[in-house]
Amino acid sequence: MDKLRITGGSQLKGEISVSGAKNAALPILCAGLLTSDTLTLTNVPRLNDISTTLKLLGQMGVRCERDEGNTVSITADQLTALEAPYELVKTMRASILVLGPLLARFGQARVSLPGGCAIGQRPVDQHIRGLAALGADIRIEHGFVIAKAKRLQGAVIRTDMVTVTGTENLMMAAVLAEGQTVLENAAREPEVVDLAELLIKMGARIKGHGTDRIVIDGVQALHGATHRVIADRIEAGSFLCAVGSAGGDITLRDAAPQTMGATLSKLTEAGLSITCGDDWIQASMHKRPRAVDFRTQEYPGFATDMQAQLMALNTIAEGTSVIVETIFENRYMHVQELLRLGANIDIDGHTAVVRGVQRLSGATVMATDLRASASLVIAGLAAEGETLVERIYHLDRGYERMEHKLRALGANIVRISS
Ligand code: EPZ
Repeated sequence: MDKLRITGGSQLKGEISVSGAKNAALPILCAGLLTSDTLTLTNVPRLNDISTTLKLLGQMGVRCERDEGNTVSITADQLTALEAPYELVKTMRASILVLGPLLARFGQARVSLPGGCAIGQRPVDQHIRGLAALGADIRIEHGFVIAKAKRLQGAVIRTDMVTVTGTENLMMAAVLAEGQTVLENAAREPEVVDLAELLIKMGARIKGHGTDRIVIDGVQALHGATHRVIADRIEAGSFLCAVGSAGGDITLRDAAPQTMGATLSKLTEAGLSITCGDDWIQASMHKRPRAVDFRTQEYPGFATDMQAQLMALNTIAEGTSVIVETIFENRYMHVQELLRLGANIDIDGHTAVVRGVQRLSGATVMATDLRASASLVIAGLAAEGETLVERIYHLDRGYERMEHKLRALGANIVRISS
């Protein structure tokens, strides 16, 4: 298993390009199942989760082509299977996103139930409940969701909580349903909006995306389209936490600052000086960060996917910060590892109290999940001496060439391949 070796102390200087958003690309690739025409997608990041999704679609008979850059084309005109096997779903929960499109276009689907994951139990009951409300005959057997429907019928669906992929699955199911569907308590994340924009390009009739009430009028069929995936606001936020932690001056190109309000506000409060254009963010940090309190919330609140990264910055900040994780029940797996680097953190249920220390000291640490990995890299950049981050296959799921981008900014970081 690969590791990253980081020698702390170098400031970050220069500019890098932000990749396309993993959490937009995943549902958008699955939307290719909704038409027999070709979808051409650009700015698709080169990530393990993307490869897993292309493999999953390929196993169904979808023709997936990827150039040497970041363009992918998807053609679902000769499907041979309508299912997502456990072997793939267990490595990527987002595979559940094929359920809605398969049901909408083919009237049937057999998708393995995703198991739990490091950050929480993460059930998919809202996906199932919503599809049943659309008229699907849906049941769980031997660890699989088995769903059938002649043609889905529009309905008003209110999810019990805001669910990002739940909203995406139900939106993709509703675009080909008979009549109107209203999704109430819908997720407002920019990745949901990007998916809706793609579906509209394919001929879907959707209004209200980006609000908590999305109205979809079903159509008979969808056609192909070309779409550029939105910039990854979590990758961009992670690099801003990195410069906050290591110090320096960086510019992020191909970014979407308009989707990063909560993150930019918190990092400014922490002491970064940040200026933005339409598609770029410039950030400088030449002092010790200030501790910032925050609680994770659904968009447009502070993203749970940024919690571990901002906690890493707080570990070396001046003062004490209080962090509340409200979305997932177990998203503090990075804390034990940050403690190994000399951080001072107490956990009490969903609340973490972080007392800033002057310096972290490098050590060997273990990545436990995707965003925890980024948190350990950020801490390693500021730590004295050498930090070895193990199990970075977690990192490779959601960050495109992170060590290359950090090295381009002057960080002392190398990948040790086993
Ligand atoms: C998406 O996961 C993201 N993944 C996650 O990013 C992100 O952390 C999460 O949204 C929250 O923003 C993708 O988009 C592929 P949810 P998702 O359904 O959709 C509960 C990353 O790091 N819930 O919004 O699975 C659930 O347990 C990943 O890139 C149910 O109880 O999250 C959680 O507590 C990690 N039943 C809360 O809702 C359901 O049917 C929000 O989950 C669905 C969700």
